[in-house]
Amino acid sequence: MGGKTAPKYRVLMCSSEAVPYAKTGGLADAVSALSLALAKLGHEVRIVMPRYYGINRDKLVKLEGALGVPLGGGEEWCAVYTTDLPESGKKNPVRVYFIDHENFFGRDGIYGVPSEPDFLDNPRRFAFFCRSCFQVCRKLDWYPDVIHAHDWPAALVPVMLRYGERRGASGEFPETAGSFAGAASVLTIHNLGYQGIYSKDNFPSTNLGWDVFYQAGFDDWDMMNFLKAGINTADKLNTVSPNYARETLTPAHGFRRDGNLRWRGADYTGILNGIDTSVWNPRLDRFIPLPFSTGDMGGKAKAKEALRRRYGLPDADGPMLGMVCRLTEQKGVGALFGPGYGSAWSICKDMNLQFVFLGSGEGWAEHEIAGLASRLPNFKARVGYDEELSHLIEAGSDFFLMPSLYEPCGLNQMYSLAYGTLPIARNTGGLADTIQNYNQETGEGTGFMFDDLTPQAIYNTVGWAVWAWYNKPEHIEAMRRRGMEQDFSWSRSARKYAELYRSALQGR
Ligand code: ADP
Ligand code: GLC
Repeated sequence: MGGKTAPKYRVLMCSSEAVPYAKTGGLADAVSALSLALAKLGHEVRIVMPRYYGINRDKLVKLEGALGVPLGGGEEWCAVYTTDLPESGKKNPVRVYFIDHENFFGRDGIYGVPSEPDFLDNPRRFAFFCRSCFQVCRKLDWYPDVIHAHDWPAALVPVMLRYGERRGASGEFPETAGSFAGAASVLTIHNLGYQGIYSKDNFPSTNLGWDVFYQAGFDDWDMMNFLKAGINTADKLNTVSPNYARETLTPAHGFRRDGNLRWRGADYTGILNGIDTSVWNPRLDRFIPLPFSTGDMGGKAKAKEALRRRYGLPDADGPMLGMVCRLTEQKGVGALFGPGYGSAWSICKDMNLQFVFLGSGEGWAEHEIAGLASRLPNFKARVGYDEELSHLIEAGSDFFLMPSLYEPCGLNQMYSLAYGTLPIARNTGGLADTIQNYNQETGEGTGFMFDDLTPQAIYNTVGWAVWAWYNKPEHIEAMRRRGMEQDFSWSRSARKYAELYRSALQGR
């Protein structure tokens, strides 16, 4: 618990994703798990997110009356639905509010669809969403101490708070601004690679004056940049691992924001994500055939068998290599699956292993993966999204591959470690904070790491892991246990966020 004297905060999480409602990646896991962990510490946490088309309204409760949201000089009206996060305690549940606006969110896709990967009206959709976060509070007459925004879709929230919502008399909503006067803002960057950069013709949607465009630093080579303005204005900001925080201060990893981040100095820190140990836990997992733990690993062998059956692979003696990811450049998929040069082909040809893949994303990669799967008997792929299968892959694999170009935190390597599956990963971002490289002399380590993102480096490191699997089984066994014994639960990180909230409120 938070200790007798630790202050308890009212926290409003503003996010475009949260499990189990809408997810494209780890952001969704992180927002819900952090909220639950904060609630366990006694904080009062509420989440606001859009009600996308795929979220079933029948299971939600509709708030009475409509919500008016100022947008682009006019007003848009929407409905608000609510429910409690599953798994949240009865005593202090995490309440979720869904902004239901047919035009903006009543369609397939969160940010886009394959034919339109970034919806043309995204700047308007998310400016609307950000403003609605304040309006929901007014409707509920519930005002947070801390407004915690996640990634570019919510990055206007700190800007709106500073320029308008908090300022009272000089802001656009003078009659009500006083209620947010005490609030502090925190912005968490889960991925600096996505900043929300759009034509500045969209700026009027924000209902912020053009003076704010320049004061908040929206300007990005004559475009408007959501995340940049959020970075400049949030009271405190963080990213999701200490190593990625350091990396992003350099031009190599800063996605042109390294200067803005350096300018924020000590206001910008790294807090490692945790994992939701009620969901990602081999002792409790309902998606695997038999639970397992360090005391009884029988279930892991069963999961491997089930995984083989699921993918139609024959029985074999060798190790199973698994991978689950979005097919984007970030995940290093070029060096692995690039046509004619990626290492996946030689890995499967030269090594005595089986390789299973689950993921979706860029068309060229999906196409290449399907081609490899049709030519290689020991490589199988499922192109798509499948929560249940992702659990079976974590549980049933011996190794888990993550050759990321950059990785703010990465959840899959922590899931892997919890399931006794050894990560093979590039030494970057949060991967470097959570995996210790294998030492073949001493047997120490929890995974296999490499520095260069090249097909050769991936090939060599998978080869190294396979060598250890055949030649150093005692090391592999000890590494599995070491990984499973690590504590990646959210409670430690949630305390760090509470500390960040405290300093944001002090420094406001
Ligand atoms: P990122 O957020 O950059 O995609 P993370 O490692 O933080 O990377 O989180 C990815 C999350 O998304 C994990 O929970 C992973 O299991 C899940 N995931 C990604 N692709 C799929 C898929 N095709 N099917 C099921 N889960 C997926
Ligand atoms: C992002 C990052 C990933 C991180 C996740 C949750 O999507 O790419 O590394 O784990 O957010 O914070």
